[in-house]
Order: sequence, then C-alpha cells, then structure tokens
Amino acid sequence: MSSDKPDILFISGSPRSHACEALAALIEQAAVAAGAQTQRFFLSNKHIDPCMGCGACSKTGVCVLAGSSRGGRPQDDYLELHELIERTDGLVIVAPLYFAGPPAQFKALLDRFQPYWAKRYVQGEDPAPKRPAQLFIVGAGGDAHGHAPLSGIAKSALAVAGFNLEKVLNFVGFKAKGDTPAVPPEDQRDGISLGRIAQMRRALVAQRDFEQRALDAGGAFARYLLKVREKDQLQKELQLVEAELEAFKADADADEGVDEGANAAQAAGEVGAPADTESAPEAPEAPEAPMDPTAPEDSAT
Ligand SMILES: Cc1cc2nc3c(=O)[nH]c(=O)nc-3n(C[C@H](O)[C@H](O)[C@H](O)COP(=O)(O)O)c2cc1C
Repeated sequence: MSSDKPDILFISGSPRSHACEALAALIEQAAVAAGAQTQRFFLSNKHIDPCMGCGACSKTGVCVLAGSSRGGRPQDDYLELHELIERTDGLVIVAPLYFAGPPAQFKALLDRFQPYWAKRYVQGEDPAPKRPAQLFIVGAGGDAHGHAPLSGIAKSALAVAGFNLEKVLNFVGFKAKGDTPAVPPEDQRDGISLGRIAQMRRALVAQRDFEQRALDAGGAFARYLLKVREKDQLQKELQLVEAELEAFKADADADEGVDEGANAAQAAGEVGAPADTESAPEAPEAPEAPMDPTAPEDSAT
C-alpha cells in the first residue's frame, strides 16, 4: 500500500457471521489502535466459486471463472478478493474448524489461488518477497483430531499466493458474544447448582483470556508490519544512496580518465602546443582606442 499505514487484510473463513467475525473484529480493533489500516473480506457475505481444475490458468495465468460471464449468472467476489490481496502488507485469517479442516467455502477461496501457482511454476514468473500472514483457528472444541489439516492447507495455499504463514494461533473454545458457555448436563439438575456457577466462571475467565490474547496479537501484528515497512523504507533509501554514490564515482572516474588522457597527450606533444610550434605566435589585436565622450563627433584628432 502507498499510505504510510501498513494495510492488513482480514479474512473470515466462516460461512456465517459469528465467532470468527467476532474474533476478527477484536484483532482488528487492536491493529487499528497500533497504527494499521484494515480491509475485510468475510465469507458470510461473499461468494467464491470453487476451482474446477480446468487447467486454463496454467496456459494464461488467469482463472476462467474470474471476470467471466458465468453463463449469465452474477460474478462471484474473487476479483474483489484478488485486489485486496494484491495490495495488502499482511494477512489475518480467522477460520473455523470443520472436522479438523476448513469449511468448504474457505477451501474454495484457497483453491482459487491456483493461478498464482501457475504463474510461478508454469510460466516462470519471479516471486515477489513473501508477506506475513497469521491464522487464528476457532472451534467448538472436543474434537480429538486437532487442527493440523486446516493449518497445513492454509500454509500451502498462502505460500503460493505470496504469504508466509508465520503464526497459527489456537482459539478453539472462543465464543461469540451471546453464546452461553457449555454446561455439563449433570450440573443442570437442580437449576443454579454450584457446579454450574463454577463452570460458568471458568468459561468467563477463558473467554477473557481469549479476548486479551486477540487484542495482544492484533497490536503486535500491526507493530511488526510497521517495523517491516520502516525496514523496507530504509532499504530503499540505502539503495538510492548507493546508486548516487556509484554515479558519483563513475563521474569522478570519467573526469580522471579525461585528465589522464590529457596529461598523456600533452606528454606526447599532442595537445597544448600549436601544430607549428616553430612559428612565432600571432600578435594580439591592438586594443581599440578609448572613445572620448567629450569630443565632438566629427572632430579630427
Ligand atoms: C460441519 C462442522 C464441523 C465442525 N468440526 C469441528 C471440529 O472438528 N473441531 C472443532 O473444534 N469444532 C468443530 N466445529 C465447530 C465450529 O468450528 C465452531 O462452531 C466455530 O465456532 C464456527 O465458527 P463460526 O462461529 O465463526 O461459524 C464444527 C462445526 C461444523 C458445522
């Protein structure tokens, strides 16, 4: 981005507007407070068609679904996502676990990065420097299969799109506002049992801990991107100064070359002496007599 604030793109990978979006909003709040500007692409109000594996992008570098008429159906939102991705400095993805992996809608989004792969590995385009990305994983918990499939898929697809997935943060158990913490059935027998209160307290403490971690992570990511930007700026300045120095040296060398050439030529008698060194130098022209401003114009002197 050209603005002096680093740009962070927030993607929510959930098909609904709930826990992932609530978590993304918290992270975003802290990132903005720390000096970033943010963009959102939340899948609850976007539609991305799935890759058909047609292979056209390997020939053209462009997806046939992006910008096509889609047989008269409305465009999907890929081009919007593409523009946001192209201009961002860093990426925050908040995605839910669906059987240890991503929901179909989020997988469809990641699969649409295939043209990046084609450009790089089929067409031989040079890769741009990788930008940082972070993945926040949300889940209800209780699934013994963890989140390795989701992290692995995201890491692979993001690498192709020019991002380095630097952090995966586990927010399994994070609740959207209004979600009541789960209470074990045996504690609900007698209404307000002590077990129920203790359980709710634990859930509240856990939720507050989640929220603090989200705020810390958002602020830290924005500060990190500011540092990256500062370093890039210094790198550019260094390159400019180095280029100026090179140009200066080249000029100095060229001048020295002329002087040396002149000295060598003079030593060889080629320059600095007239061709007919034997003949006497021409007499300088006599200076004009100064005019007497008081003398009449026609007066003879
Ligand atoms: C089809 C499906 C599969 C799910 N699989 C898991 C899972 O493997 N692990 C887990 O912790 N939660 C799982 N969940 C729960 C969701 O991850 C959880 O509800 C999360 O809050 C969804 O994010 P959202 O509220 O932003 O939609 C699953 C939910 C659905 C609908």
